[in-house]
Amino acid sequence: MGTIPQEHYEPKEGTTSKWINDRLPIMGMMDHLAKFPTPKNLNYAYIFGGILVLFLVIQIITGITLAMHYQVGEDSAFRSVEHIMRDVNYGWFLRYAHANGASFFFIAVYAHIFRGLYYGSYKAPREILWIIGVLIYVVMMATAFMGYVLPWGQMSFWGAKVITSLFGAIPLVGESLKVWLWGGPFVGEATLNRMFSLHYLLPFVIAGLTVLHIWALHHVGNTNPTGVEVRKTDIETVKKDTVPFAPFYVTKDLFAILLFLIAFAFFLYFAPNYLGHPDNYIEANPLATPAHIVPEWYFLPFYAILRAITFDLFWIIPAKLGGVLAMFGAIAILAFAPWLDTSNVRSTSYRPIYRWWFAVLVIDFFVLMWAGAMPAEGIVPMVSLLGTIYWFAHFLIIMPVVGLIEKPLPRPDSIEQAFKQKHDIIDESNTAGGVAAQPAE
Ligand code: HEM
Repeated sequence: MGTIPQEHYEPKEGTTSKWINDRLPIMGMMDHLAKFPTPKNLNYAYIFGGILVLFLVIQIITGITLAMHYQVGEDSAFRSVEHIMRDVNYGWFLRYAHANGASFFFIAVYAHIFRGLYYGSYKAPREILWIIGVLIYVVMMATAFMGYVLPWGQMSFWGAKVITSLFGAIPLVGESLKVWLWGGPFVGEATLNRMFSLHYLLPFVIAGLTVLHIWALHHVGNTNPTGVEVRKTDIETVKKDTVPFAPFYVTKDLFAILLFLIAFAFFLYFAPNYLGHPDNYIEANPLATPAHIVPEWYFLPFYAILRAITFDLFWIIPAKLGGVLAMFGAIAILAFAPWLDTSNVRSTSYRPIYRWWFAVLVIDFFVLMWAGAMPAEGIVPMVSLLGTIYWFAHFLIIMPVVGLIEKPLPRPDSIEQAFKQKHDIIDESNTAGGVAAQPAE
């Protein structure tokens, strides 16, 4: 296995870099990050990691600034949010950037996860990288959930009540756990206080996990669309398969970030409330339940799975507990993908059968999202149940079975070969005299 061989950093004698680096090897680390040999054939599916880093920073900066004006409290929270919107200089911008930023963070994370699933990024030796990613995703969901409670609107209150009440379904400890989460016998002041405290803390946990995530990535290296690993024999061979991260992928990622920010700006300036729920502009009222309680769009697929279980499971698990287990199980199952996938081919592009099932998984995700947004009546419960069954069947049956029976398509021998083929470059490197490869006319 081993790390990708990379040129060693040697700062010039007598420079400030040398002085710093001799005491704290941070310059060496920056150099490692900048020159990191990155497969030269990465496509635009690989831009989302960079976008996620940017959005984590945006969320932390806008969040800290909002917290300077927000007043936690049953009687003050809603009012202070209105104060931010109306009185604080650029308060509306901060709040809309933070709320829409959460949505764009999730758009990027879903694209990042499905990219990983398509290109088999979870397979050896990237299991820990993947599991850290799943942990980040879980903490992101917890953070977003708690953030949504803070404006103390109707959806904040009722969303918090519905989701925290789920813990009551856990046998024996459920009731005490619920009261412990609430900080009292009902959702109120104490609940809001702890949500604020944790909502402030968790982004830094995400930041810490992100450092581990990128550390793991730099140890094992990126995958690439062919699924063929970088040849690690020596630095010269590595150079044939890769390009240094800077300036090549820095430029490409910045271009992608610009496009993503344009879409973000569109929502921010022209449709800032489109992704939110109008009921959250009504102050929380424990005596008036909204007609239809829905979470934010990024929770909908898992909310649909929660509601899909309307019957006792295996005669012993009550429906409510079954729903909770299915919802958490549907997320947790992602962490087991490295061991559920039996195929020895990494990239789905070379898997003629699995690619269709992958497409069904993506469709299933959107169908569940739709079902989660609809009132649970008519065909919706049935659609949610079928969608849930497919979600689990995909990981527990299709991944292991298709991997065993499928005959993969021929793959390139190396990234260099795939790159040359794609860009019509004639390979003359094997000819006597070793003439460098030239682009075809
Ligand atoms: C705050 C959230 C996250 C940040 C900042 C982040 C950051 C990154 C970055 C910068 C990369 C390298 C560039 C790229 O491949 O796009 C990367 C790769 C990767 N990430 Fe994440 N990530 C996050 C969440 C996740 C999640 C939720 C998962 C999976 C559930 C995940 C799984 C992976 C994997 C497996 C790779 C290696 C990709 C490959 O080389 O094939 N990440 N991540």
